[in-house]
Amino acid sequence: MEHDRIAVIDFGGQYAHLIATKVRRLQVLAEIRQPDEPIESFAGYKGIIVSGSPSLASHGEGADYTKAIYDLDVPILGFCFGHQEIARHYGGEVTHGGREWGHADLHLVSEHPLFAGLGPVEQVWMSHYDSVTALGPDFEELGHSTLLGGSEVDHRYAAIGSDRLRRYGFQFHPEVDDTVHGDEMIANFVMGICGCTPSWTLDKFVAEEDERVRAQVGDGAVFLLISGGVDSTVAAQMLAHGLGPDRVHLLHIDNGLMRKGESAEVVAMLESLGLGAHLNFVDASDDFLQALAGLVEPEAKRRAIGDTFVAVFEREARRLGIEDYLLAQGTIYPDTIETGGTKRADTIKTHHNRVPIIEEMIAAGRVVEPLAELYKVEVRELGERLGLPHELVWRHPFPGPGLGVRLLCSDGTEDRSGFAEIQPALAAVAARTELAMTPLPIRSVGVKADLRAYEHPVLLSGGADWDALQRVAGAIYKEVPGINRALWNVGRDAPNSFRPLAATVTRERLDLLREADALVMSGLRRHGLYDRIWQCPTVLVPLEIDGRGREVVIVRPIHSERAMTATPARLPGDLLDELRAGILALPGVGGLFLDVTTKPPGTIEWE
Ligand code: XMP
Repeated sequence: MEHDRIAVIDFGGQYAHLIATKVRRLQVLAEIRQPDEPIESFAGYKGIIVSGSPSLASHGEGADYTKAIYDLDVPILGFCFGHQEIARHYGGEVTHGGREWGHADLHLVSEHPLFAGLGPVEQVWMSHYDSVTALGPDFEELGHSTLLGGSEVDHRYAAIGSDRLRRYGFQFHPEVDDTVHGDEMIANFVMGICGCTPSWTLDKFVAEEDERVRAQVGDGAVFLLISGGVDSTVAAQMLAHGLGPDRVHLLHIDNGLMRKGESAEVVAMLESLGLGAHLNFVDASDDFLQALAGLVEPEAKRRAIGDTFVAVFEREARRLGIEDYLLAQGTIYPDTIETGGTKRADTIKTHHNRVPIIEEMIAAGRVVEPLAELYKVEVRELGERLGLPHELVWRHPFPGPGLGVRLLCSDGTEDRSGFAEIQPALAAVAARTELAMTPLPIRSVGVKADLRAYEHPVLLSGGADWDALQRVAGAIYKEVPGINRALWNVGRDAPNSFRPLAATVTRERLDLLREADALVMSGLRRHGLYDRIWQCPTVLVPLEIDGRGREVVIVRPIHSERAMTATPARLPGDLLDELRAGILALPGVGGLFLDVTTKPPGTIEWE
């Protein structure tokens, strides 16, 4: 069945994905299109939404894109940068200035179908440097805005439109939750103005995908690498739904970088789901440990893990005669799209979803990806629809390289570069608080202004409430160069000396990390927090504190929507007490820190 579809032009990864998710909630299929795609790829849509752009909008620049979209006879709506582009294209003016951040009141000028069912004043979310300052001849102002709690200055042209041309623009972001009735505005455009009929439901998706998979696989069978994570498990269940479990061959590789007892649990889980008919398991932990031996650099570790993964996969594939099957993967929609967001993410670290042997099979049409159309939240809904247990479907994300990115390594040299600048700037912030602050002579990966930042963490020691910690951390990122993380010392009073120790990836260190991670995970579950947070990496850093211990454990609980940004999650005092007692009792552990960093400037993983 043909579904009504909306194209979302991707000028900024996470905004575009958020818009597409919101449109899909209306049971209308939204697809991401890149700005420079040929005009033919915009055919067949009932409407187009032009997304905002974090970078372009803030530099007052225009952008190259397929402007022939404006010749198409379908409604177009732009948000933020998209709004400015539409104004500009039709003879309006955009000026650098008039920036607004945060909540604003949108005052509607008159009744308009885009705002059907809404009040005369609506709370919206603004985030822009440039502004529309004049409209072209066909356009009218639909609303203007005043910043909440800010000045009384009226911001003109916050919403604009031309009913004759069916072109509209919002300076604000209706796709974020801070725009209280943003969903209604998007629905008014998609259903009202574009005339879409809701038909894209998960039940229809399952029926259509089953058909598609059956057509692609014919009488054959599929072979799926299964980590036990949400995506690969839902993919396996989906394939079993379409083809029957007998035609689904699975391979689980234990890379030695899994959580405590995890591979055994994955195998047991797959068997209990009825997916055990052709389940292959290989313990390749020795291969991975060998490849990682002696490595210290995060990127070198990632490359070693990626290469070993390919080598083990090829070996096992030959052993199991994979040429006889189509290869199945649990790839999801954001993985298939080269968005601005993921293009930049590549500069932050390398991923290994698309390895050469798999690329070859894709080129030969021999790869089946039943989830390639779906977002994570839709994959989870699908998993529940297919009868997978709640605990499995709502598992925290776990990185492909596993604990390999959570076990920090060092050649033992102290890294105090930049401390000459960091120390006085930190002292200036410290003078305004009760907290002691020490930069640590180690580094971790972070992200600043969309670029990889390999910088020092700062350790905060002393009593402070959660809000104060957040405020102080915020001041540090702003005022102190070379710091991309803030840690709070859970362990003991302000330590004086830190000494990095030489350490690489070994089974012993991995086992220690597994124990600490298991304590954190069971603590989160015991306190009913597991489902309330997005993810909680536990990290091991080879650092001696005040002449004691060999390792420091860092716990990083975060809230997030889709991992592009994150805020630290607060843990209750009694859980922190339990973790202090349990983790500091592990052999060789001399310190316990809580990572209270937002993303940016920190990433979720440490590396
Ligand atoms: P960062 O550290 O970039 O992580 O803030 C964002 C999200 O991605 C996960 N992650 C990975 N997942 N392979 C994966 O499958 C990887 O190499 C990888 N690196 C990070 C991370 O756990 C978080 O959810």
